[in-house]
Amino acid sequence: MRENVDFRFAGIEEVERLGFGVEENARRLHRFAYVEQRLMFIAAGHLLSTPEWEAKFLLGRHLYEDAEHHQTLRTRIGELRRSEHSVDNPPDPALATLMDQALRAENTVELLTGIYRVLKPALVAAYRAHSQRINPLVDYPTGRALRLVLPEEEEHVALGQHYLETLLIGDAERSCADAWAEHLNAYLTAAGGLSGDAPRPLASELPPARGDGQPWVMPQTSGRDARFRVSVPKPPTIHVPDRGDPVREGLEQMMWVRFHEMSPAETVAAIMTLQKDRPWDFYRDLARHCWDEVRHAAFGQAALQAEGIDITSNPNWIGFATMCLSELNPIQAYTHLTVAIEQAAMKYPPGKRQEYEFCRDKAQHPLMALYQDYDWADEVIHSHFGQEWIIRREYGGDRKAAIAAGEATMDKRIGFMAQFSTDGTIPDPFAKRRSTPDKGSASGY
Ligand SMILES: [Fe+2]
Ligand SMILES: [Fe+2]
Ligand SMILES: [Fe+2]
Repeated sequence: MRENVDFRFAGIEEVERLGFGVEENARRLHRFAYVEQRLMFIAAGHLLSTPEWEAKFLLGRHLYEDAEHHQTLRTRIGELRRSEHSVDNPPDPALATLMDQALRAENTVELLTGIYRVLKPALVAAYRAHSQRINPLVDYPTGRALRLVLPEEEEHVALGQHYLETLLIGDAERSCADAWAEHLNAYLTAAGGLSGDAPRPLASELPPARGDGQPWVMPQTSGRDARFRVSVPKPPTIHVPDRGDPVREGLEQMMWVRFHEMSPAETVAAIMTLQKDRPWDFYRDLARHCWDEVRHAAFGQAALQAEGIDITSNPNWIGFATMCLSELNPIQAYTHLTVAIEQAAMKYPPGKRQEYEFCRDKAQHPLMALYQDYDWADEVIHSHFGQEWIIRREYGGDRKAAIAAGEATMDKRIGFMAQFSTDGTIPDPFAKRRSTPDKGSASGY
């Protein structure tokens, strides 16, 4: 049988291309992996304070995908005669300065300009160039990694630029975006581009860095745009008009509870930002966790809107993040979320399973049943995050001690929420746990 040249090497072509050697390849991939990771942290650092509701969804989705992009590159770098942990060191101080500057965005226009007009387009260009220069046979795993990452990154740029355009409503916004893009592009050039091989101008040619060398401080207020009223206590945020049908009212309340998961999502983003020096896997898990909670808020919004309910008719809940940032340190906040609430919601009844069964059997609402089915599945994952990052890592596997710590966070929460009482009762769904600690709650966070 003769060789079929069209199908040699499983369709891999240009096998004689002289691509990057192992070391040069790893050096470049390290820079891209670093930028992906910093992009995740930039989005996480701003998710809480960014007011525009739609921007929160965008940041939540992209921070998760950037975490996965980092992971994909990280795994490959670990195969290139480097340790995977070497990836945690910044590859180039000039690249670190660029990312530090992008983090210092002072409004949403600057934030999105940095991410979608400067950094991500540079990343897309660098990925394309890298793909074209590697040898597709010897460096097959890198080629495949980039084929997975690149289309998502292109989608980020398209979606992000399209959304940013909607915020550039006047000359002031346009010149703000242009000035910030110019500022960051100067720092990108100073780093020799993302790949680091372009000529670098003198440092004296750089515009003054924002921030005076001081560490960036995460803004700690929950941003909401002008459409929304806000509330720290939860009850006013889930108010449902009397419909003469308790099942229907319970269903609608559940939609609101899902919708208000933006506040726990923002809290996870804040924990990722404020808790330093944890292993990469911690941040990767929390990026997933954050995006899941953002998605749960989307479940609620989609369900409410499918019923023709105006999502601004109740105040928007900011109480979860407000309480956590006021009363708890980041690890305590994650203990509160994962151990005191999410692990407790695994109990049946009530818990996540009961919520799903209520939608399926009592309310017979197929869309909410579907949402709750996946919400429950996601919560199983979150409860495992609590097992790993709190019970195992913080408490050496001592489950009882972790649960006691979770109860202590609940006491702090109830104490904090008591200040918003108008009639002596504590406006918090968990207040009743003081008398019946085993009951948990099927009402969310
Ligand atoms: Fe990415
Ligand atoms: Fe959730
Ligand atoms: Fe959750």
